[in-house]
Amino acid sequence: MEQSIWRKKPMSAYEADIKNNQLKKVLGKWSLTAIGIGGIIGGGIFVLTGTAAHYHAGPALALSFVVAGIGCVFAALCYSEFASMLPVEGSAYAYAYGTIGELFAWIIGWGLILEYAMGAMTVAVSWSGYFNKLMHLFGITIPYYLTNDPYTGSQYAVDNHLEPAAFSFNLPAFLITWLVTWVLVKGIKEATNTNNLIVILKLSAVVFVIIVGVFFVNVDNWHPFIPEPEMVKHADGSMKEAYGIKGILSGAAAIFFAYIGFDVVSTSAGEAINPKKDIPFAIIASLGICTVLYILVSLVLTGMLNYKDITGDALKAPVAFAFDSVGQPWAVFIITTAATVGLVSVMLVMMLGQTRVFLGMAKDGLLPGFFRKIHPDFQTPWKSTLLVGLVVSLVASFTPIGVLSDMTSFGTLFAFAMVCLAVLILRLREPNRDRPFKTPLLMLVAPLGIITNILLMSLLDSKAQQFALVWMAIGLGVYFIYSRNKSKLNDM
Ligand code: ALA
Repeated sequence: MEQSIWRKKPMSAYEADIKNNQLKKVLGKWSLTAIGIGGIIGGGIFVLTGTAAHYHAGPALALSFVVAGIGCVFAALCYSEFASMLPVEGSAYAYAYGTIGELFAWIIGWGLILEYAMGAMTVAVSWSGYFNKLMHLFGITIPYYLTNDPYTGSQYAVDNHLEPAAFSFNLPAFLITWLVTWVLVKGIKEATNTNNLIVILKLSAVVFVIIVGVFFVNVDNWHPFIPEPEMVKHADGSMKEAYGIKGILSGAAAIFFAYIGFDVVSTSAGEAINPKKDIPFAIIASLGICTVLYILVSLVLTGMLNYKDITGDALKAPVAFAFDSVGQPWAVFIITTAATVGLVSVMLVMMLGQTRVFLGMAKDGLLPGFFRKIHPDFQTPWKSTLLVGLVVSLVASFTPIGVLSDMTSFGTLFAFAMVCLAVLILRLREPNRDRPFKTPLLMLVAPLGIITNILLMSLLDSKAQQFALVWMAIGLGVYFIYSRNKSKLNDM
């Protein structure tokens, strides 16, 4: 086949992949929906809401959730059409390979590493923070040098006038990553059973926050709902414009991380019993449920706490702080437990997604065969899972990565925009292909999806944007040095 960067994977090759699938097909529509919710509800809703209300949107935070939710719905509808047509594990990467071309597909797959692997690292560090808080509630203090990477640990020692420790590493982040890795290697059934249980727990916690919190809402805190724009001082001393319509939009970018996860459902296509019908259902159901819950949580939060008062400790754990401030400290225990347990399933789902995207890329020859070795008994891509576990655990415990959620958002938004573009191209090119799920009003939904997701990308932290672009540039290098020469398309 030609060596062009635009060469595409033929549809017949996807059909062959689907036929030769060696993964265990056990996932029904509710387990798939739970995978979506398991990935979505995590630290984002419990943490980022405070920053977004105080520095960006004020009480109109609920509208930020609506805007980000709309961007996600456009992407979710496009993902669904693709997932119903091409139920393969590579997700956005695979969809682009059949429509836009190999180089684009590769870059999307490379960008998905930002979403899944870097997302898992960020979440492992947040988990360690929550775990530490939970231990505090039980009166147990873990030494700082066992809960921080070396850099943050020495910084902590200096700030608190402590004797610097000889070493420092984030032990809880390390251990939780290996626990999740073990569950993922053991089998998809074990992984989803664990996930289902956690999802029930965290959904209960979120519903609890809404139902109990509503009794403590002071409606005065919602006035004005969209505050006039003004300059607000940030932690680094800089002054930035907040509130107004612009604040709603930048707030949407700031909380976007909270929505990440529903797309992982599409990477589980190889393990779904009836992927053509159930994957679109699960993508849309998990996103729909979480969007409604998020809007309600943000309304309750900004009703309980005045956005101007969300500063200091309240910024770190705004939902727990809100309950504390209305004299309900016991709620802090429930929220901290829910977040600690809930984040485990976010990691589980992200690492699951990462290994399945690698599997798709390895099947196409763009990654080494190592990534598609399936365990004969567990029927999971075990070697790749162990490697992902190793990298995630080492980076999370030894590097100061805690605040890279914007990079995760960048990789995700990029994939979302590309999926919207790819679905549009395929609809125009092959309008008569069988589409078990057809995106309604695609000619409107896809362009709006592209615009919204690119707009949100442009509103992310500029450092994160620069890092993400460097990451993409490295990806280009790997493609031209390795993947292009190894592509299976060379033999077709
Ligand atoms: N949506 C996930 C979270 O908020 C990534 O933790």
